Amino acid sequence: MAVILIVDDDPQLRQSFEKILKIEKHTVYSLPNAESGIDFVKQNRVDLMFIDVRLPGINGIEAFDIIHRIDSKLPVIIMTAFGTTETAIEATKKGAFDYLLKPFDIPEVLKIIDQAIQAARFGRSKVEMDVSPETDAPDALIGRSILMQEVYKSIGRVAPTDATVLIQGESGTGKELVARALYQHSKRSEKPFLVINCVAIPDTLLESELFGYEKGAFTGAINRRIGKIEQAHHGTIFLDEIGDMPFNIQSKILRLLQERSIERLGGRLPIPVDVRIIAATNRNLEEAVSLGSFREDLYYRLNVVSLRLPPLRDRKEDVTLLTHYFLSKYSREMNIQNHGITSNGLKTLAQYDWPGNVRELANFLKKALIFNRGGQLDQDDVIQALDYQRNSSSQPNVINEENTEKIITQWIRNQLRTSKDENLFDLLIEHFTKMVLRESLMICNGNRTQTAKLLCISRPTLLSKIDKYNIQIEASVS
Ligand SMILES: Nc1ncnc2c1ncn2[C@@H]1O[C@H](COP(=O)(O)OP(=O)(O)OP(=O)(O)O)[C@@H](O)[C@H]1O
Ligand SMILES: [Mg+2]
Repeated sequence: MAVILIVDDDPQLRQSFEKILKIEKHTVYSLPNAESGIDFVKQNRVDLMFIDVRLPGINGIEAFDIIHRIDSKLPVIIMTAFGTTETAIEATKKGAFDYLLKPFDIPEVLKIIDQAIQAARFGRSKVEMDVSPETDAPDALIGRSILMQEVYKSIGRVAPTDATVLIQGESGTGKELVARALYQHSKRSEKPFLVINCVAIPDTLLESELFGYEKGAFTGAINRRIGKIEQAHHGTIFLDEIGDMPFNIQSKILRLLQERSIERLGGRLPIPVDVRIIAATNRNLEEAVSLGSFREDLYYRLNVVSLRLPPLRDRKEDVTLLTHYFLSKYSREMNIQNHGITSNGLKTLAQYDWPGNVRELANFLKKALIFNRGGQLDQDDVIQALDYQRNSSSQPNVINEENTEKIITQWIRNQLRTSKDENLFDLLIEHFTKMVLRESLMICNGNRTQTAKLLCISRPTLLSKIDKYNIQIEASVS
């Protein structure tokens, strides 16, 4: 978990922060003034920092400038009360991660912590390339096939230039890892790296998230907001899933690439920005262009350098290396003994086509480790698990699932018929959520970290759900 530093002169606020963040299993340090905060950052590893604007002595904004020079990648969140918001907004222009208006609510704080930790991991944790499967680097590009060697070479060639790069490849082929490797090997590696996932953000918010807005630009725009592109000035912005970007925003990105400037929503003046763009998509952009859903001119502008990541089925010789890598990585992360895999088990894995590519293989092995606590993974274990995976993905109505679905449908129908509760929908969802949580916790012997990994959600999200639904399961370890 993360090391978080809080700097605020209000002891009550520091105390409540400490309480919340300790429940989340973060290590929290809190200090009453900027001077001691700066010293602390100089001497200790900090993953994330909150700082108040109004402080005795050096104020939070001046302190941010100093801290940003010491460690440009440390995400700093400025806490502001009424009257100092404008300066906090200015700080985001200079690279502060975000600002929070006081008084804040806990879910908002937790959300921003999650985002900042992810952003820090993106920028800080190095993506190793072409390393041994025993590496303990948290992120690595694994594979020695000729196709992967080509990818490493391209990264080496393109990274140091300022060229716009378009990374294409099926889902799960490693586009995000490659984008991070490009950034880390670039001249801008000490400058910000911001990620925008064009699918994860609703269309209505994407434009303001990217370009920011002026006060009064639309109803609800109470303050000016600096967009991600402006925040990434001198750095790199990764536009993930660009194939899904709405048409009107595509035009604005085209303008950014042509004119190297943006306009905030409701703003009148173009603002010059110097950002390098890395974009990725699992869609076939040539096809999208011919269908008219992607602008041709933007496609050519983005495609200055194109990196195509091979699907795993075209580099099956890498399956063995990847398998050893993931077994050792997950056994370390989840604290489960790795009994390895037999050569027949490996052969069977290499025969499968992996339509979900490396991500599918990784998830498969994560589950194999959790469910198969006995000995080495053998051909039979692999065949059984793969059969189940194949059936459940290609024909969702195999006998077992069909029966289960019938039973559940019957139960829902009964509830719909008999319940008089006004919140029926919420109750039904709650019922299923509890079942899923209980079952996953049972499988993982109550270990929260493993359960979060199994469900592919973050640990804070899992903990807040356990808390919300009051799930009582004894934890063996946490
Ligand atoms: N060559 C590789 N070596 C090790 N791990 C890899 C490799 N390629 C992908 N992965 C892992 O597989 C998972 C999926 O990778 P990533 O998120 O980069 O895929 P993607 O191409 O961005 O997929 P999508 O289009 O679905 O977003 C991640 O956990 C990543 O760490
Ligand atoms: Mg991706």
